[in-house]
Amino acid sequence: MQFTATPRFPAFLHGGDYNPEQWLRYPEILEQDIALMREARVNCVSIGIFSWAFLEPEEGVYDFGWMDRVIDRLWSAGIHVDLATPSGARPAWLAQKYPEVLRVDSRFQRQHFGGRHNHCPSSPVYQEKVKAIDTALARRYAGHPAVVLWHISNEFSGDCRCPLCQENFRAWLRDRYGSLEALNDHWWTGFWSMRYTDWSQVESPSPAGQDANPAMWVDWRRFSTEQCRRFIRMEKEALHAVDPSIPVTANLMHRFWDYDYFALARELDVVSWDSYPAWGQGDDLREAAEHAMTHDLMRSLKDQPFLLMESTPSLVNWQPVNKMKKPGMHLLSSMLPLAHGAQSVMYFQWRKGRGGAEMFHGAVVGHDGTADTRTFREVRQVGEALEKLSSLYDAPKAPSRACILFDWQNWWALDYAQMGRRGDMRCVETVFAHYLALWKQGISVDFRDCETFADDGRYQLVIAPMLFMTRCGIEEKLRSFVARGGCLVMTCLSGTIGEDGLAHLGKTPHGLTEVLGLRVCELDALTDRQANRLIWGEEQYALHSLCEVIEAEGAEVPGRYGEDYYAGQPCLTRNTYGQGTAWYLAAQPEDAALDALYRRLIAEHALPRALPCELPEGVAAQERGGAVFLQNWRAESRTVPTGRAWRDLLTGETLTGAVPLGPLGVRVLLPAEAPLP
Ligand code: GAL
Ligand code: ZN
Repeated sequence: MQFTATPRFPAFLHGGDYNPEQWLRYPEILEQDIALMREARVNCVSIGIFSWAFLEPEEGVYDFGWMDRVIDRLWSAGIHVDLATPSGARPAWLAQKYPEVLRVDSRFQRQHFGGRHNHCPSSPVYQEKVKAIDTALARRYAGHPAVVLWHISNEFSGDCRCPLCQENFRAWLRDRYGSLEALNDHWWTGFWSMRYTDWSQVESPSPAGQDANPAMWVDWRRFSTEQCRRFIRMEKEALHAVDPSIPVTANLMHRFWDYDYFALARELDVVSWDSYPAWGQGDDLREAAEHAMTHDLMRSLKDQPFLLMESTPSLVNWQPVNKMKKPGMHLLSSMLPLAHGAQSVMYFQWRKGRGGAEMFHGAVVGHDGTADTRTFREVRQVGEALEKLSSLYDAPKAPSRACILFDWQNWWALDYAQMGRRGDMRCVETVFAHYLALWKQGISVDFRDCETFADDGRYQLVIAPMLFMTRCGIEEKLRSFVARGGCLVMTCLSGTIGEDGLAHLGKTPHGLTEVLGLRVCELDALTDRQANRLIWGEEQYALHSLCEVIEAEGAEVPGRYGEDYYAGQPCLTRNTYGQGTAWYLAAQPEDAALDALYRRLIAEHALPRALPCELPEGVAAQERGGAVFLQNWRAESRTVPTGRAWRDLLTGETLTGAVPLGPLGVRVLLPAEAPLP
């Protein structure tokens, strides 16, 4: 049996965040909801996410009566429960009685009661109260057949600078560095008289204090990750002490910077995340690729299928402009996580509240309380689609032969580096540019960080965009990958600092100059209005933001700069090393250059594509369990010259050769000769 996120209910989950506690004074609503859920083909809802004030109305006094009724009624209708711990927001009495549970911000100000996601992770009182309510929830509901998953808290984020957290920071640093002398060395405190002579002088970085030391900031991010990880572990242990059989997840976010998700994921049994693309505001194909990238990243965190925990059935309310999904977009966009390995399509939110910040956020059921809406019909359509695709449930995404290195610590280090385009080093944007070129060509991509990457023969192509900080022996791992026949692509800003934040001494990219056959000499930054050119054979491509001046030391030079004092010097190089090749792109090119580079590498290395044909503009293809998810992100029809016969799992049609896709069309195609699921 392949991995299943919810062993008690091994099927695609369809449902979303449900807040019956907001409707306790409207008993008829629960009954309406259950009837509507059945009609919408909902089989699982997430409850309890922000219910603490209702579960523990007074300190130590629990009220589970309402939740008993909700879970029993859901279960009697065959609806499962993803049960949340309520630690994402606390009751007023708790904040009033124990103000230390509230977070202290980056300017050392204590928050007041309100909002959510603002607790101090170090507070012993908060930990004790969370443990107590988690234990009580587990005791009461772990044995309930409806409960299939634990949803720990909600979207963990941010950090706290209270005295307790400062104490923990110092303890963490002591543990990491051993001595104050070592800390002084790693933080290069000879600079600006920053030298510490006693541990008690060490404080978190802050815009109100020590703001300018990049190594210190990166350590603060590592420490914040560790704080969050410990908090998750504490909650997980409380739940699993009662019954270890229900997996735990925590819902993660898109392009989330605060914590290293590879590290957090180690505490989770299942990775889940919340995906909110902004459709209809620009290029939907790009937007789809952005979120496809995060789906692949989430799948890669534990190298296993993941859950889509939240998405909107219609629109959100927190963007500057909140657009409705156009007809057809809901089915199309809900198939994207599936194509990338998800085992669910879940929403925020089931029903709109009558008040509060999210009263106008999209929901399956609106204030009119009816199923007779376009949104409801499109949600039901997705529910039906998931039933038709049930044979793909535990089929994993097609194995990737391409891997992109994406390392959170590297991302932080680049963002804190005071150089180049300060504060705008475009690390994720660069990762995305490379991902996009592969995704558009139907290539399946895995992500690894420096720690999880292994030269284990799994990949033919490894791309390490802007690998500024090297750690976990990545130089050696990449060297052996190339020596044994792999193809490596690196870019400007590679191999510059070590894990401790100190600059590598000697030639850079550190440890890889022989593999790449070059050394880096200078870094030039371009303003938004400036550009350079890459001249590559007959072609020319625009270059923007950052340009390195490099010197070839053995590498071939297929591409050169066209402008400025480094015109004619190498910009794109290719080196043979051992059995493999290593490419280096010294600047940031327009997409077309990456399209050309990867078209060539895909052909050279015969990388498997979801479909071997050229995909029409706006169409993407990914393979899962032998089925090809074909998606048209354009409002005009497309035809895909597949050259073979298929059965469409969504419509039941048989198709041959040229497969038509309507505007925003999606098909899930099994080769016609494959056995019927
Ligand atoms: C998520 C959050 C939900 C809800 C939603 C609105 O980030 O987890 O509780 O606020 O956004 O889009
Ligand atoms: Zn704190």
